[in-house]
Amino acid sequence: MSETATHVASGKVREIYALDDERLLLVTSDRISTFDVVLPTEIPDKGRVLTGLSAFWFAQTQSIVPNHLLALRADGRSTECRRLEMLPIECVVRGYLAGSGWKDYVASGEVCGHRLPAGLVESDRLPEPIFTPATKAQTGHDENIDRAAAIALVGESRYDEAERVTLDLYRYISERAAARGIILADTKLEFGVDETGKLVLADEAFTPDSSRFWPADEYKPGGPQPSFDKQFVRDYCESLGWGKTYPGPELPAQVVDGTRARYVEAFERLTEIPFDEYLADPEIVLG
Ligand SMILES: Nc1ncnc2c1ncn2[C@@H]1O[C@H](COP(=O)(O)OP(=O)(O)OP(=O)(O)O)[C@@H](O)[C@H]1O
Ligand SMILES: [Mg+2]
Repeated sequence: MSETATHVASGKVREIYALDDERLLLVTSDRISTFDVVLPTEIPDKGRVLTGLSAFWFAQTQSIVPNHLLALRADGRSTECRRLEMLPIECVVRGYLAGSGWKDYVASGEVCGHRLPAGLVESDRLPEPIFTPATKAQTGHDENIDRAAAIALVGESRYDEAERVTLDLYRYISERAAARGIILADTKLEFGVDETGKLVLADEAFTPDSSRFWPADEYKPGGPQPSFDKQFVRDYCESLGWGKTYPGPELPAQVVDGTRARYVEAFERLTEIPFDEYLADPEIVLG
């Protein structure tokens, strides 16, 4: 690092440094988590895939909403960004019924206060994408909340703005992904507010870690779908009968290689940029 950076936090996947009062450096590692457990084995270049995809989408969606990206470093995994006041909610949008959305629907017929038609099956496409915010849990799992609970946290006009922008982004990206054979079932976005009060898209965006990507040619509602990127890892972990608590298992070479290939394939299909070209010059994703 060419300038002084103070380490401020470690996430499951990212290391966060402060460059100065206005800027952060987000460094995305190759760590992989499954069932919320970070595994002891890394997936080479996974952090570069996540960083490159986020930067690609930030560049592509600037006309929908401003974002935090300032610069992409030559290592392909470090992003300089504007340091924002983050909204205390996760902005989730769902076009399909999976994960906690499916669980909530089975229990109550609703997801975050959206009443859904009866008789939907797991992984069904929803009549319309829905905004389903969640709390940002400091520990444990995020909790789905309804409109009133989210408004109590961010205020009504900010809520309405975040909902509108999140739905606009989802419609735009999910159409582009569909054209490349990938279903964007749902995704989580994080927004911050800048010093002028403007809403700014932050964190990572439309990556395999923040989204459910499904291969469209294998889509079959009525059960869980294979994950585009993590399926080999999940299948391998399940085959061991592992209890899904720390410590996670080491991954064998063929699972690592297969998973790396899927991450790279997601990058190349979504961006239409060869991954080697990204490695040679990350700024290629900025268009
Ligand atoms: N522009 C920004 N300004 C301020 N904070 C940001 C910005 N972009 C992202 N963040 C914050 O940086 C952190 C990113 O780290 P990371 O994704 O590794 O951790 P996490 O999401 O908190 O936890 P985990 O991913 O381990 O569940 C998040 O807390 C996110 O809200
Ligand atoms: Mg995160």
